[in-house]
Amino acid sequence: MKFFVDTADVAEIDDLAATGLVDGVTTNPSLVAKSGRSFVEVVREICGLVDGPVSAEVTALEAEAMVAEGRALADLAANVCVKLPLTFDGLKACRQLRRANIPVNVTLCFSAAQALLAAKAGASFVSPFIGRLDDQGQDGMQLIADISEIYAQYPRLETEVLVASVRHPMHVVEAAKLGADVATLPPSVLRQLIKHPLTDKGLDAFLADWAKTGQSIL
Ligand code: G3P
Repeated sequence: MKFFVDTADVAEIDDLAATGLVDGVTTNPSLVAKSGRSFVEVVREICGLVDGPVSAEVTALEAEAMVAEGRALADLAANVCVKLPLTFDGLKACRQLRRANIPVNVTLCFSAAQALLAAKAGASFVSPFIGRLDDQGQDGMQLIADISEIYAQYPRLETEVLVASVRHPMHVVEAAKLGADVATLPPSVLRQLIKHPLTDKGLDAFLADWAKTGQSIL
């Protein structure tokens, strides 16, 4: 399973990328607003920090304008993946950008039917938002299971399932059990994945015993 980080915080991306765990980055207009920085500047900077795809979202609502914005974003760096909303115009723009060989992440997916349409439009990634479904009392993970089952029926489809709106480590574990291609994680969730209280406890005990030996490795 590939891990993307879901943030526009360049310092966080830089720190996490050093682990070798970061296969890409996703941003959205809310995350860019939170960073308080210029969108273009942030996208360029992130693209220089990671080799994998960096999703940058258009804000136009009409297909031709989405394509124009998508082309401009794709010109910023070779690893930009244009993020488009799952709307009628978004799907039209997806088709056009894919014909130009520009990678596309179709976002704001909340149903298996929408995911099927994204794949038919040639999306490189589809982003089902599982946390927001859970927030509504629905089962976000069931959506990942449904999409995976549908895509498996059509091996020629190349769209990757990018699990988004991830809230906690169990979302990642359950999505991995379903074979999802990618999970995009808030930095806090990626850090939570690393931590286990027994790891900390075990390390404390090892270090206490080591101190008693009076030795040092170097
Ligand atoms: O970037 C898309 C998605 O991951 C947003 O998640 O937490 O705002 O529902 P969230």
